[in-house]
Amino acid sequence: MSFRILGTGSSVPKKIVTNDDLCKIVDTSDEWITSRTGIKARYITEEETPLSLSYEAATKALKDAKVDAKDLDLIICATLSAEYQSPSLACLVQKELGAVCPAVDINAACTGFIYALDMADSYFKSGKCKKVLVVAFDALSKFVNWKDRSTCVLFGDGCGAVVLGEGKGLLHSQVHAQGDMSSLLIGDLGDGKPYIHMIGKEIYKFAVSTGSTEIPDAIEKAGLKQSDVDHVILHQANRRIMEAVAERLEIEKDKFAINIEEYGNTCSASIPLTLDKMNRNNLLKDGQIIVMTAFGGGLTSGTCVIEWNKGEK
Ligand code: UT7
Repeated sequence: MSFRILGTGSSVPKKIVTNDDLCKIVDTSDEWITSRTGIKARYITEEETPLSLSYEAATKALKDAKVDAKDLDLIICATLSAEYQSPSLACLVQKELGAVCPAVDINAACTGFIYALDMADSYFKSGKCKKVLVVAFDALSKFVNWKDRSTCVLFGDGCGAVVLGEGKGLLHSQVHAQGDMSSLLIGDLGDGKPYIHMIGKEIYKFAVSTGSTEIPDAIEKAGLKQSDVDHVILHQANRRIMEAVAERLEIEKDKFAINIEEYGNTCSASIPLTLDKMNRNNLLKDGQIIVMTAFGGGLTSGTCVIEWNKGEK
């Protein structure tokens, strides 16, 4: 037995930074950012911390799931922007929630949430866990070189969380890594300054080819057809990437969830943030099929096919 999603939650910082705000610090324009990426604004951390945003999203997900933190068997935080290397963000969340289970951080960059679900699947199948909390937090604003217009306009901060319980919601999951392509996207501390270095055009090609090959492959491995899919949640990196993937598949474009205009690219948080928004807007009905696909630093990629059956007793 694997898992089903029992509840979702999310959180974002208070401060909204619009494209026009960015025009004051780098040589860019709302027209360039909107037409090349679809992004209009993003949330940027000021007084919030990784823990405060993660705790807020986790608390909302537990409430939605009607699960007590004391009943959790495992907490996985997917992040590359935790406050400390140790203690892990997951341990800080565990303490704050009053949970008594193992807790661990994983880093698969923008694919972190999918990797966390794939790992959780193994814990459920082995019988080690009955309730798992997955938190995906990232705040790439602190890694971005705010003088580099080719990257600083892309990213935003946020957090998404899900509570998983035993069930038959996960139909298939797959994750990949191509370390030989790692130099295309690096978030490092360089000479003490945290910067993101990205060969945007190559990542763009990787993203489109990953999305258009992984999605049909995962759907087939789940024993389904593309016409069975109700929603596709693709990592929100660029509206053009999502449109290019949609054009290559036999899934109607309006089944692709898009919220990049409000959040920008929130790295590991982008898929669970989107899922939470859809859940809270009552867009998800029991029995619907959702495909979630991410790609990013590593380079990593992964896809989960789930049946939404949150209401199942
Ligand atoms: O989460 C996973 C990681 N990230 C991604 O998935 C990102 C994937 N890549 C992309 O989304 C796109 O490649 C970008 C949005 C990053 C860039 O779009 P592009 O269409 O590939 O533009 P480009 O890099 O080829 O740049 C075109 C022009 C250049 O000027 P020249 O050389 O043609 O004169 C850039 O200098 O646009 C210029 N440019 C900008 N102009 C205004 C680059 N950034 C900006 C900017 N404002 N912010």
